[in-house]
Amino acid sequence: MRQHKRSFLKTAIAVALAGSASLAFAQGAPFKIGLILPMTGQQATTGRQIEAAAKLWMAQNGDTVAGRKIELVVKDDTSLPDQTRRLAQELVVNDKVDVLAGFGITPSALAVAPIATQSKTPEVVMAAATSSITEASPYVVRTSFTLPQVSVAIADWAPKNGIKSVVTLVTDYGPGIDAEKYFSERFILNGGKVMDKLRVPLRNPDFAPFLQKVRDLKPDALFVFVPSGAGAAVMKQFGERGMDKAGIRLIATGDVTDDDQLNDMGDVALGVVTSHHYSAAHPSVANRKFVEAFEKANKGMRPNFMAVGGYDGMRVIYEALKKTGGKGGGDALLAAMKGQIFESPRGPAYIDAQTRDIVQNVYLRKVEKKDGKLWNVEFDVIKDVKDPGKSK
Ligand code: PHB
Repeated sequence: MRQHKRSFLKTAIAVALAGSASLAFAQGAPFKIGLILPMTGQQATTGRQIEAAAKLWMAQNGDTVAGRKIELVVKDDTSLPDQTRRLAQELVVNDKVDVLAGFGITPSALAVAPIATQSKTPEVVMAAATSSITEASPYVVRTSFTLPQVSVAIADWAPKNGIKSVVTLVTDYGPGIDAEKYFSERFILNGGKVMDKLRVPLRNPDFAPFLQKVRDLKPDALFVFVPSGAGAAVMKQFGERGMDKAGIRLIATGDVTDDDQLNDMGDVALGVVTSHHYSAAHPSVANRKFVEAFEKANKGMRPNFMAVGGYDGMRVIYEALKKTGGKGGGDALLAAMKGQIFESPRGPAYIDAQTRDIVQNVYLRKVEKKDGKLWNVEFDVIKDVKDPGKSK
């Protein structure tokens, strides 16, 4: 039954797409971007940020590219991969979208990869960050980041700054396992000791028992990765359990001191050092303009790294459509996405033509209070970092 269903889908996709790109072009049909995001549920902040960023991009750059009207079709997958898959199928077969984009979490991005491959539709991953996603389909292009890419820098910083022993605490799925592996290997290589590796479930995590264990083990620092949206809960419980007072420092990837939530985390976040590819405090003209426009369009909401992944994802799609002279077509679009170089609000970046993954700067940042607000203030940079996950 399942097999039958799948081959039906394959045929439906093939029929739906035969010659559709050139026909659509000839008829001046709109160019459709199917944006699948978690708009509700545990990952809703990611959906809210990316949708706002995509709309900002369109407001700033117009809704017509090379004569084609751009149509953004937003769908809520509630971060359940079965929903993501179903929505992607509908978007390809019924709506005949030219590009699939979004994908708040790794399981959602992976669920769509076979559909992207079968239908030759570019899958622009704007959020999910497990290294292996780009290998799941030759049609995946990523504008977010990878956990190996950002975890190594903090593992280099820590031992030079008095941290000789750590416990790691990560969410138990793709990006968490990547963060644990790449942080630990590098930290041990640098002479550090990993006393324990703890993993919390993705759905409804309770950090309390894990933090108690960390308190008992008393490492110099706790290294944390949790996905965007869960950072405030970790920070709050870290403070409530008096971990900082017990002399345990918190280090993390920037997913934890997420700009979407940072300002509400309170003083327990002050001084926390993280490594990441984007801070709303990044001191460039391009970023200042981006943050100002984003806040203005969204009732003061501060953009986070998810917003930047969405904004740059739209840029990559617009540029690709321009390069095909408005013609589109999965393979032509994909070829035009590879190798794009641009200045992002995060800093300089490009899409590696071989891996289809983003190459970008990784920054070390410290949470500081400025004008009464909390910011991830960058104090060091590692330039042009490729995903280290790809060379293994
Ligand atoms: C992911 O599921 O790949 C993911 C989600 C949120 C993050 C990082 C990675 O902050």
